[in-house]
Amino acid sequence: MRIDIVTIFPEFFATLDVSLLGKARQSGLIQTHVHDLRDVTTDKHRTVDDTPYGGGAGMVMKPEPWGDTLDAILADPESSQRPVLIVPSPAGEPFTQAVAKEFSREEQLIFACGRYEGIDQRVSDHFATRMTVRPISLGDYVLNGGEVASLAMIEAIGRLIPGMVGNPDSLVEESHEDGLLEYPSYTKPAVWRDLEVPEVLLSGNHAAIAAWRHEQQLERTKLIRPDLLPE
Ligand code: ADE
Repeated sequence: MRIDIVTIFPEFFATLDVSLLGKARQSGLIQTHVHDLRDVTTDKHRTVDDTPYGGGAGMVMKPEPWGDTLDAILADPESSQRPVLIVPSPAGEPFTQAVAKEFSREEQLIFACGRYEGIDQRVSDHFATRMTVRPISLGDYVLNGGEVASLAMIEAIGRLIPGMVGNPDSLVEESHEDGLLEYPSYTKPAVWRDLEVPEVLLSGNHAAIAAWRHEQQLERTKLIRPDLLPE
C-alpha cells in the first residue's frame, strides 16, 4: 500500500519509522510519502491560510497549495488510478474498525491534514471528481489538526494489511472484531499482590475458557459500551 500525507508539520510523521509500521516500511509492505504543504508556496511567508469569507474566528487553509500538492501526487506515475483522499475532521464520518478494514484494502491512501478551521471546501469538491474523498472523524472531540488523527488511522489501517501482524489470530480476538469489547487478559505469575488469575484460565478446559471469555466480553460491553449491543 502507498500512503501519502500532506501536512504543514512533516515532523509529526517521524514516528512512522517506529515499531510495526517501521518494519512494514522496511519490508516494502507500505510506502509512505510525506509532503510539506508549504513546499509549493511562492511567497516569502510561505502562506497556507487566510481569513474566512463571511467572517468568523480563525483561519481557513487556502485552496491553491492543496490543489498544487494533490495534483502533483496524482501526476506521480507511481500513484494508483483512483486513490482515496482521507480528510481528518471532527465533522467527518466516524472512524471504526469496519472503516479501517475497508481502507486496508486500498492501493493508495492520501491523508490531507488540515489545521486551523479546516481546508477551503472547494478542495474536497474539486478532488471528489478525481478521487474518492472521505472526511473522517476520530471521535466527538476537537484536535488541533489532522496529524495525530492521521497517525492513529494509519496505525489502525496498517496493522490490517495482510503480512503486517505476525499472528493473524491476534487480529481476530480483539475489541471490536466481533462487535464486543475484548475479554481481560492475564499472564504469569498466577498470584500478584494477592490478586489471583481466574481459576478457569488455569484449568486447561478450552471450552470452559472460551465460554468464560465470551461471558466477560458481554459483561464488559454491557457495562462500558452498552451502545454496541443489539437492543
Ligand atoms: N481534526 C480535528 N479534530 C479531529 C477529530 N476529532 N477527528 C479527526 N480529525 C480531526
